[in-house]
Amino acid sequence: MKLAKSEYRKRRKALLQHMVPNSIAILPSAPSKKRNRDTEFAYRQDSDFYYLSGVSEADAVLVLVPGREHGEAILFCKEKDPEFERWNGELIGQEQAVADYLFDDSFPIADIDDILPGLLEGKRRVYYSMGLDEKFDRHLMEWINQIRGKVRSGAHPPGEFVALEHTLHDMRLYKSPAEIKVMRKAAQISADAHVLAMQHCRPGMYEYQIEGVLLGEFLRQGARFPAYSSIVGGGANACVLHYVENNAKLNKGDLLLIDAGCELDNYASDITRTFPVSGKFSAPQQALYEVVLAAQAAAIDVALPGNHWNHPHEAAVKTLTQGLVDLKLLNGSVSELIEKEAYRAFYMHRTGHWLGMDVHDVGDYKVGGQWRVLEAGMVFTVEPGLYISPEVTTVDEKWRGIGIRIEDDVLLTRSGNEVLTGGVPKAVADIEALMKTHK
Ligand code: GLY
Ligand code: MN
Ligand code: MN
Repeated sequence: MKLAKSEYRKRRKALLQHMVPNSIAILPSAPSKKRNRDTEFAYRQDSDFYYLSGVSEADAVLVLVPGREHGEAILFCKEKDPEFERWNGELIGQEQAVADYLFDDSFPIADIDDILPGLLEGKRRVYYSMGLDEKFDRHLMEWINQIRGKVRSGAHPPGEFVALEHTLHDMRLYKSPAEIKVMRKAAQISADAHVLAMQHCRPGMYEYQIEGVLLGEFLRQGARFPAYSSIVGGGANACVLHYVENNAKLNKGDLLLIDAGCELDNYASDITRTFPVSGKFSAPQQALYEVVLAAQAAAIDVALPGNHWNHPHEAAVKTLTQGLVDLKLLNGSVSELIEKEAYRAFYMHRTGHWLGMDVHDVGDYKVGGQWRVLEAGMVFTVEPGLYISPEVTTVDEKWRGIGIRIEDDVLLTRSGNEVLTGGVPKAVADIEALMKTHK
């Protein structure tokens, strides 16, 4: 499932509208990364570059020049090369860049040193995100210095460098109907994978075997890559927030926390479920689980347009703290414990993040120092948890080593919200019933 090329052109046009006259925007593609010796990591395009181009090739540069007579949107990319393509697959080349990818103009990347200084010359402002790609930063400085070297012949080097992120990342925060379609599909694939993981889980299996079930389902449904390294943590491993070793044996009496989501056409999904390895929650596991589930419900209830970004977090913290008091993991008045952030001993992360092309997607959480007001088209996660480290000796032993998180992807609609990842159960009875249908 891929977005139409016209959607990328629409975005370029929208960004061009935001640029001041007599300016230029320059975005390099992501560099390819060596894994070891002569092997590379699977290539993943830079999200900003992909958002504006739909192009997955390395060695490409996107240039926007508002008002340029021969075309405002230019793609520098590799030239067609049958010998290279025999080994490495088809290249887009200049013709396709214009005909299929709907760029106004395209040049071979090998010619960029000759062409880009000419495009930069005389521009008042350069939109470029400095410091993200050292090698490209140096190239750009060389092109600028090339122009500086010609001032006595009347050349004008650009005077202003402005980060592109602000406008671009605000655009990326609001998802279009086409983007929502892809994100809904990614969410459904990930939900299916979590359902299968619950059905396959048995005591004595290894965490990586469950990871294999998840990745297998992503691939089976056409999502080639996970959006981030999958976390498959049994027992106390669930208390390590970024646990990715995934190599321990699953014990009968433990919970298993899985945080895994696929990427589809460079859009992420992000789901966490926590369930008993044996298929049946113990009483303490269920008691804590119900608190996290209630906190998630409370957070989703206030994930509404017109509320602000922190409302869901505040709702989750309140429910979690109340639950910790009820279960005697904390003592005192709920409001005072919230004020003192006493819950942080067991809940040390925030309740969510924007979701889009990057799993922790771009977009400001505060505007003018205030929490951002939520609006239709925004997508974010709601993911409260409780983590009772085995080392915490201040709580009853029965709680120690239990880690729980429940995470869903939520789309804000005009009238409320839609949980995109509802295809995988999270109520205790529903999980236990599903796990009886072993695979
Ligand atoms: N999987 C990363 C996160 O939940 O934020
Ligand atoms: Mn998340
Ligand atoms: Mn996650």
